[in-house]
Amino acid sequence: MKKERLMTPGPTQVPEESLLTLARQVTHHRTPQFESLFEKTRRATAELLRTEGEVFFITGSGTASMETALMNVVAPGETILVLSSGKFSERWAEMGEVFGAKVVTCAVPWGEPFRPEQVADLLRAHPETAAVFGTLTETSTGVRHPIAELGRAVRENSDALFVVDGISGIGADRFEMDAWSVDLAVIGSQKALMGISGGGFVAVAPRAWEKIEKTPRRGFYFDLLKYRKSAQARTTPFTPAKSILEGLAVNLDAILGEGIENVWRRTALLAEATRAGIDAIGLARTTSSPADSMTAVFFPEEAAFDPKRFMSEIHERFGVKFAAGQGPWKGKIFRMAHFGLIDEFDILGTLGAIELALHFAGRPVEPGKGAAAAQRVFLRESKAFSSEN
Ligand SMILES: Cc1ncc(COP(=O)(O)O)c(C=O)c1O
Repeated sequence: MKKERLMTPGPTQVPEESLLTLARQVTHHRTPQFESLFEKTRRATAELLRTEGEVFFITGSGTASMETALMNVVAPGETILVLSSGKFSERWAEMGEVFGAKVVTCAVPWGEPFRPEQVADLLRAHPETAAVFGTLTETSTGVRHPIAELGRAVRENSDALFVVDGISGIGADRFEMDAWSVDLAVIGSQKALMGISGGGFVAVAPRAWEKIEKTPRRGFYFDLLKYRKSAQARTTPFTPAKSILEGLAVNLDAILGEGIENVWRRTALLAEATRAGIDAIGLARTTSSPADSMTAVFFPEEAAFDPKRFMSEIHERFGVKFAAGQGPWKGKIFRMAHFGLIDEFDILGTLGAIELALHFAGRPVEPGKGAAAAQRVFLRESKAFSSEN
C-alpha cells in the first residue's frame, strides 16, 4: 500500500472529519435537517466571499457553476469581454460562443497578469459590453490576476457586470466580492474548500438580478431564478449532491473558525516558502504574478532531462502527485498547490522529492537546497508552525 500525497491544485486532500460525513447513512434532502445545512453553508460561503449577495450550491463540477453564471446573464447576440490568460479563462470564451454571445477577447501571454488599463480601453471601445469575464487565479499558468483593480476598471468604464471564476483561488488567495465590484463569483468544491469533486457555488450580488431577470431563459437545470425561488424555501430546486455539501459544511466551519484572514496569511506563507525552495533548486517559475494557491514551474530545458520521467518518479517513488502542463505548456511545466490541508511538512517533503526526482530524470542537484530555503522562510515567521496557530 502506498501513501498518496495529492499536491495538485484540485482535487486536493480532504480532511478526515469531512470524509467521515460520507460514512453516515443517506438521509433525505427534503427535510428540516437539509434546510439547516443549506442555510448554514449559504451563510458560510457568503462570509467567505465577503458578500451581501446570495450564494447558490450547484451540483456539477466547477464548470457547471461557470455555465450557470454565464447563461443567466448573457443573451444571444450580446457582447461579452473575456479576459483570457490560459486554459481556464479561455473556457469563458468557448462558453460564450456556445451561448451565442459576441465574444471580444482581451488576451495576455500565458504567465502574465492583466493590466486594468487594457480592460478600460477595451470597454471604452465596446460600450455595448454586457458582461466581463475574469479569473482570480489561472490554474493553467499559476497567475493571480488583480481582481480588485480590474473590478474598478469595469465599474468606472462601463455598466457591464463583472463575473469572476474563483474556482482555484477562493479560500486561498484574498478575494472580497463586494468591495472589489464583482457581480457574480464562482467557487469549486475540490480546491481550497477541500471538498469532494462535483460541486460548486455561484454567488450573485444584488445588482446582478435585474440582468438575470431580463435574460431569456435558456436551459432548465442551471436557471438561477429557480435556485432563487427554492432558496426562499431553504432548499435547492433539484436533488443536490448532499454528501458533497455535508463535507463542505465541516470544512467551511474549520476555515471560518480559523478566520479567513489567517487562512490567507498561512497560505501566502506556504506559497512564499515554496517559491523560495523552487528558486533555490534553480528552476524557473512561470510568472512574476504568482497565486498563493499554487506554484507552476518550468522543467529544465537541457536535452538530458526527461519531464515524463520526473512526473512518474515523483509519483511512483514518493507518492507526490502534481498536475502537468496544458495547451502550449504541455510537457513544459508542473503545477503544485499549497492550499487546504497542505502544510509546512508537505512543502518541505515535496521540495526534497522534487530534488530527487530531478536527479533521476537527468538533472543533477545539490540535495537539501530547496527545503533549506523554505525552512528559512518558516523560521522568519515562526508563527507559521501549525502547533502555534
Ligand atoms: C480556474 C479554474 N476554472 C475552472 C475549472 C474547471 O473546474 P472543473 O474541472 O471542476 O469543472 C478549474 C479546474 O481546475 C479551474 O482551476
